[in-house]
Amino acid sequence: MLPLATFSLAVLACLLTGYTLHKTRLVHLLLHELRDQGRQDNAALFRQMEALHALYTELRLRRSLPATRGWAASPDFLLELARHALSERPRTVVECSSGTSTLVLARCMQLNGSGKVYSLEHDPHYARATRAELARHGLADWAEVLDSSLTAQEFRSATWPWYETAGLPGERIDMLAIDGPPQATRRLARYPAGPALFARLAPDAAVFLDDAKRPDEQEILRRWANEYPEMQQQMLNCEKGAALLRYRPSTARQPGRFATSP
Ligand SMILES: C[S@@+](CC[C@H](N)C(=O)[O-])C[C@H]1O[C@@H](n2cnc3c(N)ncnc32)[C@H](O)[C@@H]1O
Repeated sequence: MLPLATFSLAVLACLLTGYTLHKTRLVHLLLHELRDQGRQDNAALFRQMEALHALYTELRLRRSLPATRGWAASPDFLLELARHALSERPRTVVECSSGTSTLVLARCMQLNGSGKVYSLEHDPHYARATRAELARHGLADWAEVLDSSLTAQEFRSATWPWYETAGLPGERIDMLAIDGPPQATRRLARYPAGPALFARLAPDAAVFLDDAKRPDEQEILRRWANEYPEMQQQMLNCEKGAALLRYRPSTARQPGRFATSP
């Protein structure tokens, strides 16, 4: 028979060993998770660098683009915009929010030798900054930044802060890029792009929505899918999520018209 003290010590040692093994396993799992996360972060960053490099190459840029992190559209989204604009040569391009995307699209118009970008910008400071960048790149003739304050407007029986659009031209829109207004302005801040602008789209027009991984943008896409069955939706593999919608009037409930008007 073991004396009680020895027995107690043996039990304590077993408990301590079990506890240490448990903690060691947790640390091991955590290290694996950190390693996997690190690999994923590196791969994602590398992908953005490849997209940025592709932009500089395909657009043959002679001057540097402003930052493409944080508030700006990411390189992968900008590359989607550029490739579409270069291959489909839209004549009238409208943008909700200005910035690096305005430069990229304006450069595409310049390379195409046709088309014009109209960028709705609510903040006069960023409107001036984008105009200065357009001038620095020699692109002022290919894009117009419109001072478009966000005013209370009614869409589907609710009020939204939405761009003043009086400065837009009368022509049909061939390409629409939606990267504003900022999320903080209201829940589902970009929803009004549908009721405010979809009725102006040319047949086969393309609509790009940035930040489509966010719950707000996912709900906006669900609403648009219900309200605009003529708009075929497709998700793009971009870091912040993006959606491409094509206006196919042939799929409309009333051919040639939107099922719901603004
Ligand atoms: C998502 S950002 C627009 C980004 C733009 N499409 C681009 O590619 O750069 C939406 C709005 O944020 C504002 N904005 C732009 N750059 C910003 C910055 N660096 N910090 C804070 N706000 C910014 C502008 O008013 C812009 O309309």
